[in-house]
Amino acid sequence: MIDRIALGALPEKPHTVFRATDGTLLQEEMFTRGGFDGPFSYLYHQRPITAPIAVEETTRGFPIARPSERGNHPLQRRLYRSLEGRRRGAMLEARTPIVVNRDVAIYVARPDRDDDVLFANGDGDELFYVFEGRLSLESVFGVLEAEEGDYVHVPRSTVHRWKLRSPDATLLLFECRAGCFIPSNFRNPVGQLKLDAPYTHRDFKRPNGPIATLDQPADGPTDLVIKKVDRFSLHRLRNTPFDVVGWEGFAYPFAFPIEKYQPKTGLIHLPPTIHTTFVGPGFAVCSFVPRVTDTHPQAIPCPYPHSSVDCDEILFYVRGNFTSRRGVGPGCISLHPAGVAHGPHPGAYEGSIGTKRTDELAVMIDTFAPLIPCPEAAELEDAGYHSSWDATS
Ligand SMILES: [Fe+2]
Repeated sequence: MIDRIALGALPEKPHTVFRATDGTLLQEEMFTRGGFDGPFSYLYHQRPITAPIAVEETTRGFPIARPSERGNHPLQRRLYRSLEGRRRGAMLEARTPIVVNRDVAIYVARPDRDDDVLFANGDGDELFYVFEGRLSLESVFGVLEAEEGDYVHVPRSTVHRWKLRSPDATLLLFECRAGCFIPSNFRNPVGQLKLDAPYTHRDFKRPNGPIATLDQPADGPTDLVIKKVDRFSLHRLRNTPFDVVGWEGFAYPFAFPIEKYQPKTGLIHLPPTIHTTFVGPGFAVCSFVPRVTDTHPQAIPCPYPHSSVDCDEILFYVRGNFTSRRGVGPGCISLHPAGVAHGPHPGAYEGSIGTKRTDELAVMIDTFAPLIPCPEAAELEDAGYHSSWDATS
């Protein structure tokens, strides 16, 4: 949902006769968001997407993010070491739930093999952040390449599978129940990204596609796992959905390299909102990228201690020296719940005075509803994190 693109073969006008080289009538699919009122794409399939199918219950899929029995009790700052997660397999299975609320579920994914079936998540948009590894997202829209440092946005119910281009990979994943979008204030009235938006149209990666052509019958996977209301179903399709010869529209998967994000610098410390990258109902995702720090001669560049009383905060540390935190390194995920003040570790606040740059790279999500830890996250938790603000420890 960045801008309109058109790939492959298309009829001159939508909803009109369009045939393959052998004369077969192609099947138009309308992929629509927001009912029929939001962004949409037209896709042209070689064969009907509605052909009869066998439907089965399945044990395929990943652990659903559910709140642990203890909830977020006792309320405290928490830290999870995502790289200690041992759950492996294909992307469909290799996801460990960390925290969840009504709007978003947050997972760590550590795939080490290709998906052998197709997947469509009917429960929300998926926003990945690739921490390490290289991958290809194959979908009805074509192939989208992703690598370390890329966000990857997969719209709800996009039929896709992941393939690895490195031996394994680690990704952070936000499952966004009511969608994940470019903030509307970054766009002008015709939808173009504004001059003061933190990214431009050229910064985004789009699918290379489509996969099929007008003169060659498509071959591809036909087993599709669908997630809906936190249950998985297996649909055995008659035809592969990867038979799209052309498509056009605004709804499709895309990637955004985090280091294309244009940071802002102020006279004095600016709030996290200047790092906003994506938003959805109940949350905002922010990108902290290397930048010049505040220019006032007496500025304190380190974030001020804060009580953000309406938001829970997750910070995923990617790279850099994390001047504000001790004992925190790449791959760590901190949870700072509303109601518990947080800020720089002792010494970091004063120690930052006079610094001119920060090389930290991190992804943050702030949510309005409380984030509740999932039982599977307990084995990744660093029990001493809350008390690590004790200057005497
Ligand atoms: Fe914070």
